Amino acid sequence: MNFELKALTTAAAAREKCDLLLVLVTEASAGGSDALSTLVAHAVKAGDFETSAGKQLALYGLPAVAARRVLLLGAGSGSAREVRQAVAGAASALKAQGVAKALLCFAYEACAAAVASAVLSASEAAYSYTHTKSQVKPVALKKLLIGTSGKADRHGVEQAFAIAVAQAEGVALAREWANRPANHATPTLLADAARSLAKLPGISCKVHGPAEVAKLGMGAFMAVAQGSEQPLRFIELHYNGGAKGAAPVVLVGKGITFDTGGISIKPAAEMDEMKFDMGGAASVLGVFQSLGRLQPAINVVGLIPACENMPDGRAVKPGDVVTSMSGQTIEILNTDAEGRLVLSDALTYAARFKPAAMVDIATLTGACVIALGGLRSGMFTASDALARALEQAGDAALDPCWRMPLDDEYGEGLKSNFADMGNVAGRAAGAVTAAKFLQRFVGDIPWAHLDIAGTAWKSGAAKGATGRPVGLLLHYLLATAPAAARPARKTAAARRKAEPAAGSAQG
Ligand code: BES
Ligand code: MN
Ligand code: ZN
Repeated sequence: MNFELKALTTAAAAREKCDLLLVLVTEASAGGSDALSTLVAHAVKAGDFETSAGKQLALYGLPAVAARRVLLLGAGSGSAREVRQAVAGAASALKAQGVAKALLCFAYEACAAAVASAVLSASEAAYSYTHTKSQVKPVALKKLLIGTSGKADRHGVEQAFAIAVAQAEGVALAREWANRPANHATPTLLADAARSLAKLPGISCKVHGPAEVAKLGMGAFMAVAQGSEQPLRFIELHYNGGAKGAAPVVLVGKGITFDTGGISIKPAAEMDEMKFDMGGAASVLGVFQSLGRLQPAINVVGLIPACENMPDGRAVKPGDVVTSMSGQTIEILNTDAEGRLVLSDALTYAARFKPAAMVDIATLTGACVIALGGLRSGMFTASDALARALEQAGDAALDPCWRMPLDDEYGEGLKSNFADMGNVAGRAAGAVTAAKFLQRFVGDIPWAHLDIAGTAWKSGAAKGATGRPVGLLLHYLLATAPAAARPARKTAAARRKAEPAAGSAQG
């Protein structure tokens, strides 16, 4: 979808030719004297329209408005959160056949965060999964104009708009790849998706196959992959927008394209959802898509260990001991605790980039879903500074996380009689003990772990990937850029090069 930001009063919005006009109305929306504002005021006064977030009034063929369809959207006090709720409620209107061009206008002085929220929620609402459906009517919506009238903080609004457009694209890419069934999103296909991101300016991609991974000594990663017919891929993405030699942030995304549990096999119920077990990997792809669009002055490395976790005659068995790339040996007591195995070798590999920080993103534990549900991702780090930065980024992006503990005592259950460590501790505090396992592979590099098992996808009727935590990660990365370099001003050449969707998987 194409987004455009335009300075528009409500009167000007009414004159704009489009198929659908959405008007965000707050409690404090000033009653202007133009026809549309008068109508809104009447509707509120008559009790036919309430301004609390989520409330709507649909209108059609208004003589004073150029758009055929008009939808008034209550936006409460006008906050980013309420705008998200309001726009999400307009999803079916935005996806309706015959709506190719829509205008979303703020009938109040919207802050930068509210404008960003409108872009993101509209993009989220307009997304639909089609890749493996034989009969689909594509969403008609091609263009969304965002109309804001306020003069205050124009620069802030423009900057937030640009970030939100890039973020929306990254979120859509992450959702698309996470949604694709495991037979349509194999490690090889994920690597192809990463390679096509390298068409964006500043991005390069290297893909390591089984022979190279063996040569690197990634025994933990290989153990997980060995039960599968699908060859593993170790994907390495680089975004170089910062000073040459400036320490990068490394993102490591768990890329289990399907998790059966292996020999410690999972129960059948809902096992299909384990196609989402590459949600961390998908979020790394999404972030790189956004970076390619925004061109911030930072360096970022993305690492994705991608493979399936399958039961097989060749599969790793409970009790098998493997040697990780770090040299530490691991007794694989439960083959279903595979995420930490593939991540451990990727974290060891990350050290070669001398990162300023590394963040791994993983659908790691069912225990994290029990602890935090679907609202906040679990965040683990020994660094208070990194914790604060991630918390702030999550709050700003409406993609929140919650810090969890890492006391050393939590790691005691990982001891093994036959190796340097086991890959599981007891049932208690399962999300924490998983993080303690990962911590053994990070050395002295500032590191954080995001457990997105509860936030990467939704179950039930709305089953599907969320694209989280692309927003959190992107905001975190942008905040690490030298202040002078924000916002990234694209050169005309970079913009031209970035324009075609570059093999992105969006519908
Ligand atoms: N991918 C799963 C974690 C998961 C489970 C995410 C359910 C979302 C919903 C992970 O590989 C796994 O199986 N973890 C085990 C660890 C256990 C064996 C220590 C778990 O959480 O049960
Ligand atoms: Mn598992
Ligand atoms: Zn898993």
